[in-house]
Amino acid sequence: MTNVANVANTSSTTPPVVAMIGGGQLARMTHQAAIALGQTLRVLAVSPDDPAAQVTPDVVIGSHDNLDDLRRAADGATVVTFDHEHVPAELLDKLVAEGATVAPPPEALVHAQDKLVMRRRLDALGAPVPRYAGVERVDDVESFASRIGDAIVVKTARGGYDGRGVYLPRDLHEARSVAERLLAAGVRVLVEERVAMRRELSALAARSPFGQGAAWPVVETVQRDGICVVVIAPAPALPGDVGTEAELLALRIADELGVVGVLAVELFETHDGRLLVNELAMRPHNSGHWTMDGATTSQFEQHLRAVLDYPLGATTPTVPLTVMANVLGASELPAMAMDERLHHLFARMPDARVHLYGKGERPGRKVGHVNILGEGSPDDEEYAAKVRERAQLAAHWLSHAEWTDGWDIHG
Ligand SMILES: Nc1ncnc2c1ncn2[C@@H]1O[C@H](COP(=O)(O)OP(=O)(O)OP(=O)(O)O)[C@@H](O)[C@H]1O
Ligand SMILES: [Mg+2]
Repeated sequence: MTNVANVANTSSTTPPVVAMIGGGQLARMTHQAAIALGQTLRVLAVSPDDPAAQVTPDVVIGSHDNLDDLRRAADGATVVTFDHEHVPAELLDKLVAEGATVAPPPEALVHAQDKLVMRRRLDALGAPVPRYAGVERVDDVESFASRIGDAIVVKTARGGYDGRGVYLPRDLHEARSVAERLLAAGVRVLVEERVAMRRELSALAARSPFGQGAAWPVVETVQRDGICVVVIAPAPALPGDVGTEAELLALRIADELGVVGVLAVELFETHDGRLLVNELAMRPHNSGHWTMDGATTSQFEQHLRAVLDYPLGATTPTVPLTVMANVLGASELPAMAMDERLHHLFARMPDARVHLYGKGERPGRKVGHVNILGEGSPDDEEYAAKVRERAQLAAHWLSHAEWTDGWDIHG
């Protein structure tokens, strides 16, 4: 009798298992959110040293492009989701055919995997995108440039991240040779107009299979060398109607593409205030790291809620302004250990919210981020600049062991 009751009790309280493909920092922070929901994230990681593999006991070691490894990760999982978008669609189709629930589904995910497929689909939906063309032959670069001018960007359709696979050629000659090299390597290529932009924005939303959608306020993202360095949430001085338009656009794209989970819509704001979609990501995104400390529901918890078809959480900011700065590996590793850097940072900035990923430091590598919360308005330029400066000071300190404002650590 007792046994039966116990068994029944056990099965009804067994939490769902979300399996995430990839063991990077996004999986690590998703596991952090899973813990609060009484869950343990399963990760498919390349190595036990991967950021997420270090922190969850449910680790499958394997590769995202090996079907058997994917099967092992999916086995018994409630739902399979992603820390990156590089899983081949044909393998995901097999998993689905074998009964796995995959979120986002492969037919949605392809729009985050392939920039040409994405451009064409968004174009068909009437979403604003930069002018673009697929490149089959090198001459296609020339005919595109003859229509729109020499300011163009050459991109690989697949496999890019952190600006890899994005080329900003100086002139047409260089554009041609870049395209020629890529085509010769068997890579699919597209060209786009080089958008003269005021700044980059990101609209982050989530959608559940039930069809519920929720959007966070639109943020400004600052990149250096194609890598996101700072995010300001919400985007300062964004006209209310433009912000609303971007949020609605993200929700509409999520709906039309059948996204399940978090969707990031990377946007360009042109000088005349128009928005153009750069690209899509269907997972927690760097532009949403601020939500860990600055919003009622973080993007990581929201991703879990969405893929599990729970009701979505409130996306309301908890403070008027949050600035996130990435901690990027310095070009020369500082002699001071990270632990000591952290010690000094906390001594100077007790309010800094630090998130470290357990990664080895390599030049330019994202090893953590810092959130600084502000009680003042993001539209107060001077105030916003101060909060941003503190976030960047903190992040630079953590990566370089150097205060760029000359602060004396023993003073
Ligand atoms: N058409 C364009 N015009 C001007 N700048 C562009 C254009 N496309 C890309 N860029 C610049 O290059 C950066 C990286 O481009 P994109 O987001 O397509 O590449 P990615 O490598 O997939 O990036 P991510 O780091 O977001 O994964 C953009 O954030 C933007 O700064
Ligand atoms: Mg991008």
